Amino acid sequence: MNRRSFIKNTGVASLGIGLNIDKTFSSSNQKDVDPIVIATWDVKNATNKAWKVISENGSSLDAVELGCMVEEANKNGQSVGIGGLPDREGNVTLDACIMDHQGNCGSVVYLQDIKHAISVARLVMEKTPHVMLAGDGAKKFALSMGFQQENLLTEKSKNDWIKWKESEQYKPIINIENHDTIGMLAIDKNKNISGGCTTSGLAYKMQGRVGDSPIIGSGLFIDNEIGGAVATGLGEEVMKTIGSFLVVELMRQGYSPDEACKTAIERIIKKPGSDYKNFQVGYIALNKKGETGSHAIQRGFSMTKYDKTGNFNIDSPYFHKQG
Ligand code: GLY
Repeated sequence: MNRRSFIKNTGVASLGIGLNIDKTFSSSNQKDVDPIVIATWDVKNATNKAWKVISENGSSLDAVELGCMVEEANKNGQSVGIGGLPDREGNVTLDACIMDHQGNCGSVVYLQDIKHAISVARLVMEKTPHVMLAGDGAKKFALSMGFQQENLLTEKSKNDWIKWKESEQYKPIINIENHDTIGMLAIDKNKNISGGCTTSGLAYKMQGRVGDSPIIGSGLFIDNEIGGAVATGLGEEVMKTIGSFLVVELMRQGYSPDEACKTAIERIIKKPGSDYKNFQVGYIALNKKGETGSHAIQRGFSMTKYDKTGNFNIDSPYFHKQG
């Protein structure tokens, strides 16, 4: 780059920064915000539980934990908690994380035999000096905290896995049963934002595989000054772009939650050689003003939102119109 083009580019860059400053998120003169809960996918039972907590003056942290627990205990959901589809060897392994309004966070990866991964993640945050516990260590910790061991592989998921083994064809399943990782964000009456994220990960993954959901910044990120974001879909693609952190940082620059989710999705799509037609990623986001938004690569993703007007499932905008 010669000096002239350097100056020109620097000028453009400064203009960009200038524009960003103009767009910078402002929480000053913020009006009162009513409590809101949003979650990935159609999980009205989960948002109902979380809403009950915040509408009765509970904290957003309790709301997202209890909300996520509803889906973890649902044996019919094959992507979260008990009933989750196993890895190629038949092991159900769970990933989860939680983050509060003070920026504290906890996470578990490759947790086995304990269905409420979100609650174990919360205790990692509250009772240990660490952020993340994995595998046997995470299970040992959970048992020491009084969690009960149980077999998470239901008959249905076991039969599906046995059937899958006949072909062992490996490819990500888009919108598995219209349900995937459960991510939840809430803002409470004290205007505090928290988030949680829980999953059994990609169906029939390689043994040992960990996705985006327990990785703070990828599967979930909260900044109480700005807002929060959570991801669902193919974790590998979310991790490569640190997706949830990106969404929050875009909101910091003044993007609306919708625009921020859309821009983070475009970041994945525009990567050289992106195979985006063959996988799904979706984001939902909530900002400090109580605005919400979502965006996905493929048709079929939705967000559930519970606010003072009711509990609704809303189809998400998406990029790949041919999908
Ligand atoms: N988003 C969940 C996963 O990829 O494991």
